[in-house]
Amino acid sequence: MISSGGIDREDKTIESLAGHRRFAPGRALALALGFAVVAAACGSGGSTASPAAGSSGPSAGTPVPSVSVPSFSFPASAPPTANTSETLRELAGSRYFGTALAMPQLQTDAKYAQMAGTEFSSVTPENAMKWGPLEPSRGQYEWADADAIVAFAQAHDQKIRGHTLVWYQQLPRWVSDGGFTKAQLTDILQQHIATEVGRYAGKIYAWDVVNEVIAADGSMRDDIFLKTLGIGYIADAFRWAHAADPQAKLYINDYDVEGINPKSDGLYNLVKSLKSQGVPIDGVGIQAHFDANLAFPTDMTANLQRFADLGLDVAITELDVRINTPATTAELAKEADYYGQTVASCLAVTRCVGLTVWGFTDKYSWVPMTFPGLGAADLYDASYAPKPALAAVQEALAGH
Ligand code: XIL
Repeated sequence: MISSGGIDREDKTIESLAGHRRFAPGRALALALGFAVVAAACGSGGSTASPAAGSSGPSAGTPVPSVSVPSFSFPASAPPTANTSETLRELAGSRYFGTALAMPQLQTDAKYAQMAGTEFSSVTPENAMKWGPLEPSRGQYEWADADAIVAFAQAHDQKIRGHTLVWYQQLPRWVSDGGFTKAQLTDILQQHIATEVGRYAGKIYAWDVVNEVIAADGSMRDDIFLKTLGIGYIADAFRWAHAADPQAKLYINDYDVEGINPKSDGLYNLVKSLKSQGVPIDGVGIQAHFDANLAFPTDMTANLQRFADLGLDVAITELDVRINTPATTAELAKEADYYGQTVASCLAVTRCVGLTVWGFTDKYSWVPMTFPGLGAADLYDASYAPKPALAAVQEALAGH
């Protein structure tokens, strides 16, 4: 069970993420490391920090300065890699094991690209398919990064999870500040979904149609879409996406819904209601951005199962585990435990179709920029050395 403190902390952080991303951490980090980071709020990033539309952030412009983790020694009980030469995608068997992928590192960092192509059987564009980066000015589409990720995935026989069609963050300013009427915003949203889903029709395994629409207390998030369009926009978004690509699996995706808590109850009720209305929803995405300072939700398996019991697929969509930095051996062991438990939860649920990590190397993680003092959240360190977390994932997969 996530402690309520955990939810509060996560939610407060996410609620104020735009501020965090725009100002203090990025700048503080940049100053500390001697990099010139332009505030992510610049350009057409819109109401939230939108690195892909602006010029900073883990996945836009130059790679973020890597946060170097001091060297550490692995405890004897947690070897850096499990006794396997198999890749994660092989170990995952009938499920997929994916990663978020970001530009420009996919094109500039050969090691990153090589590992992304060999270890994983699914990719999720970390930013390239979000509305802000994609359509910074009305009618002006920037398809290059999204197209490149799609091409990469196809070349490596990987599934693609499209992320994301409707999200209150990383919206272009022309949408968030447009002052549109209900009729106008309905048209704009429909066009956006039809255009993006249509472009990649037949190529996308699953779309995160709506992202983070539930508030911490389980009510609907009072964002621009709810305010302007009312609750019906969610069903509309799924129907429009389905019309544009009937093959794609359509997901609702959120954070802090790993265990059973007021927020995941709200998500459950919403999804149940959508299903009963015949809305074309296929799956529930559990982001799984964990903080190892907070208790692991031991009811995660039960939570995944209750969604599956509604007749839906479930997936772990953005797994990472942030720990206190600099990382100690003890912190790394805790991180490994969270990774292992998450994989085990998915494997325990037949309809948990796969897992995606939100990046695989600490070199490019979004975490240090967003959560000051925390980081080292990925399977490999900033030099691509395997961490205990990798061994834990390998072991969990192999033991299944
Ligand atoms: C993050 C990206 O990793 C960052 O590069 C970007 O600056 C902000 O967004 N939930 C989501 C993801 O659904 O899209 C977010 O990705 C992380 C939280």
